[in-house]
Amino acid sequence: MRLRKKKNLEQRLTAVDDYMIVKEGSDFYYNPARKNEVKIDLDKAFAKSGKLYLELGCGKGAFVCEMAKKYPNSNFIALEKVPNVIVSACERAKSEGLDNVKFVLGSAENLTYFLDNDTVDGIFLNFSCPYPKKTYANHRLTNPKFLKIYLGLMKDGSKIVQKTDNRGLFEYSIQTLSEAGFILRDVSLDLHASEVADNVMTEYESNFVAQGLPIYKLEAYKPIL
Ligand SMILES: C[S@@+](CC[C@H](N)C(=O)[O-])C[C@H]1O[C@@H](n2cnc3c(N)ncnc32)[C@H](O)[C@@H]1O
Repeated sequence: MRLRKKKNLEQRLTAVDDYMIVKEGSDFYYNPARKNEVKIDLDKAFAKSGKLYLELGCGKGAFVCEMAKKYPNSNFIALEKVPNVIVSACERAKSEGLDNVKFVLGSAENLTYFLDNDTVDGIFLNFSCPYPKKTYANHRLTNPKFLKIYLGLMKDGSKIVQKTDNRGLFEYSIQTLSEAGFILRDVSLDLHASEVADNVMTEYESNFVAQGLPIYKLEAYKPIL
């Protein structure tokens, strides 16, 4: 299903230009020069230097904006491929005046064009699309092709944090992460069954929790070789 373009989308995107550090755009895929122009200059992007965290598939940005407020000495880059959705995330960050969160309108497939290796302190995968059909498995954000990209970007000892309502995706991720050499810790089959310290909710998480559904969570550490 194709999402209908939101009214005034172009004007809204222009109004949050200062929060959007990369716009992949349709020419990204057929114009090789574009790929050399989208590397993020972290010193320019953020007011202060600090640890760098990514959220992949940030939706409307509730999680990343809350994290940016909670951890003002860290920097956050949130990536989302749907313009209709990321525009709301940028508007939220701008209205809250956050200077430690920026957005990339683009696909996780292209992360290596945006960031250098060994720059990332953590990656959040929140309620990623499960792509249940086997033929779409290579779109899952814990598919081995993505894990290879993340391993390059991540500093030694940094971690991926995954939360999902989808048991199939969770089991798949446990397998692919283990096979890629990540060390799994804090695996939970029902995150909200007990009091959770330090959990920042996402939009999808709030909906699922309200419906009484279990939330699966894991942390996967990049091994220090
Ligand atoms: C189910 S939503 C979850 C949104 C948010 N993380 C939350 O928990 O509320 C998943 C989001 O990931 C985005 N997404 C899926 N695959 C992506 C990819 N390869 N690159 C960037 N974004 C992606 C989708 O467009 C969608 O907005």
